[in-house]
Amino acid sequence: MLSLSLLLGLLLPALSSGNPARRSMQVQESRPSPPSGYTLTGPANPDTVLTFRLALTQSDYDGLIDALYDVSMPSSANYGEWLSKEGVQTYMAPTIESISAVNAWLSENGLQSKVISAAGDWLSVPMPVSTANDLLGADFSIFTHSASGKQAVRTLAYSIPTDLTDHLALVHPTVSFPNPYGYMPITNFSSSGLTGTRDGHTGPCDVNSITPACLQWLYSIPTTPATSKDNVLAVTGYVEQWPSEADLSAFLAEYRPDIDSATSWTLITLDNGSDPQGQYDAGLESNLDTQYTIGLATDVPVTFISVGANDDPTDDEFAQTLLDTALYVLALPFPPQVMTTSYGDDEEYISQTLAISLCAIYAGLSARGVSVLFASGDGGVSGLHFQECTTFLPTFPSGCPYLTSVGGTVNIPEEAVYFSSGGFSTFFDRPFYQEAAVSEYLAYLGDTNAGLYNPSGRAFPDVAAYSVAFDIIIDGFETGVDGTSCSSPTFASVISLLNDELIAAGRPVLGFLNPWLYSSAASALSDITVGNNYACSDFTTGFNATTGWDAVTGLGTPNYAKLKAILGL
Ligand SMILES: *[C@@H]1O[C@H](CO)[C@@H](O)[C@H](O)[C@H]1NC(C)=O
Ligand SMILES: *[C@@H]1O[C@H](CO)[C@@H](O)[C@H](O)[C@H]1NC(C)=O
Ligand SMILES: *[C@@H]1O[C@H](CO)[C@@H](O)[C@H](O)[C@H]1NC(C)=O
Repeated sequence: MLSLSLLLGLLLPALSSGNPARRSMQVQESRPSPPSGYTLTGPANPDTVLTFRLALTQSDYDGLIDALYDVSMPSSANYGEWLSKEGVQTYMAPTIESISAVNAWLSENGLQSKVISAAGDWLSVPMPVSTANDLLGADFSIFTHSASGKQAVRTLAYSIPTDLTDHLALVHPTVSFPNPYGYMPITNFSSSGLTGTRDGHTGPCDVNSITPACLQWLYSIPTTPATSKDNVLAVTGYVEQWPSEADLSAFLAEYRPDIDSATSWTLITLDNGSDPQGQYDAGLESNLDTQYTIGLATDVPVTFISVGANDDPTDDEFAQTLLDTALYVLALPFPPQVMTTSYGDDEEYISQTLAISLCAIYAGLSARGVSVLFASGDGGVSGLHFQECTTFLPTFPSGCPYLTSVGGTVNIPEEAVYFSSGGFSTFFDRPFYQEAAVSEYLAYLGDTNAGLYNPSGRAFPDVAAYSVAFDIIIDGFETGVDGTSCSSPTFASVISLLNDELIAAGRPVLGFLNPWLYSSAASALSDITVGNNYACSDFTTGFNATTGWDAVTGLGTPNYAKLKAILGL
């Protein structure tokens, strides 16, 4: 079969003198309607060129997941033996048959692909809408989101040749839509939505103004400088959010006078990303992320990965920027040991096939020993942002089982914060490492919220950290910010400092955290048992925090000293 299709691919163009062969086609992905709020407002311009990303089927996805667990389960003999770039590629690379079959189909249609992943499993192919409509039996149209005015060129279905279904997993952009509200989960400082339980001052903390000193006290994070120069904490940046060196320097001078205020990040740019240092170029998110990683993970080298938008500014899409970031990091011979991202999306905008393919890249990164952390989102159970919903909306990529999702807390003693996104993926099944913890929570829930969430889904967040009133400096001024955007860099800093101590002790870094978090590390986290997140569009309860894992704060917040102790450091 395989060689026959290859043969046909090579022969038919000649026989049909340039006309693409008509092949038997099969629908690969479809959705009944666009995501809510989007309507079809007209045909797409046939000349508009879209750059498609094609995911080829990986030769051994199951093998990759087995290898991942083999090195990330604390009980495994191979715990900590993170895979090399080549080791991961063995599983992720498509077969020769898949590469030939897909490329034969493309060249038969006069198209050329560029390989964009180290394993060769992702291709990029630019083509005009007219060609894409023909090639994919698609109907690319303009969809407009009425409330935001956001427009995107998408199709509700596309097909691929039947003989390619074993070789080609997906074509993007097709049935996944951009989130009309963007994908930046940080919110402004505002106490209006918070219940009046803020306690004022505790220890060095003023809950109206959280600082590195407060977090160091709260989580017993040391101020001792890290020593390894090869232990990198990567911070990702999207949607033209750029960190300011002057603001970081002012932040360090004020909050960490013991750190050299000239300390900065190493810049990496992807997709024409940049990091201008003009007076008003700084972004809240990027300043928060750099100030609270460099300000907490003392002397850990921080890298800022600035990812540009794609060519069409009306069509910036999170999935593509996530893809480009993850493929870039996966291709590095020495990837950062920790990567934190304070951006997200709602599962409803992304196709399940695309979500699975992106999640596979996180599995690859995790297998290489990268701790991949994402903020869980700021919409409670209504997704990334507060919005109308009739069922709870899980966020993406927090529903991917091969990364660590970080929710948010407030107050001292800490409670769940109402905006902390949490729940159950509709795309991914519950992984075994959280089976016991989540089953207990499901038993606690009983019938509460039944029908509003997928009880067999991967549950998130995994852990939490403080998320309200973080003091940052932007454009030279102090301001407070809220969001799980505060939590992920905080948790990431704790992991980076632990990694520094592990490296100094000649031991492997923590890498993929979840099997460890849900087993030996659970007792070193502070369980958050009070509070809840809000339900869809009203102020009733989404999920409660409770003893053990819960769908607002996960297993709890970090305690550095205890984590260090259980690591035997
Ligand atoms: C943040 O605050 C500014 C000024 O108060 C306001 O214009 C903006 O809409 C707020 N943004 C969010 C996401 O709440
Ligand atoms: C980057 O910029 C160059 C020159 O402006 C442009 O040709 C190219 O398409 C851009 N690439 C992306 C990925 O936006
Ligand atoms: C959640 O907490 C509220 C307030 O404490 C309580 O009334 C409710 O019964 C709890 N839900 C569950 C499932 O226990």
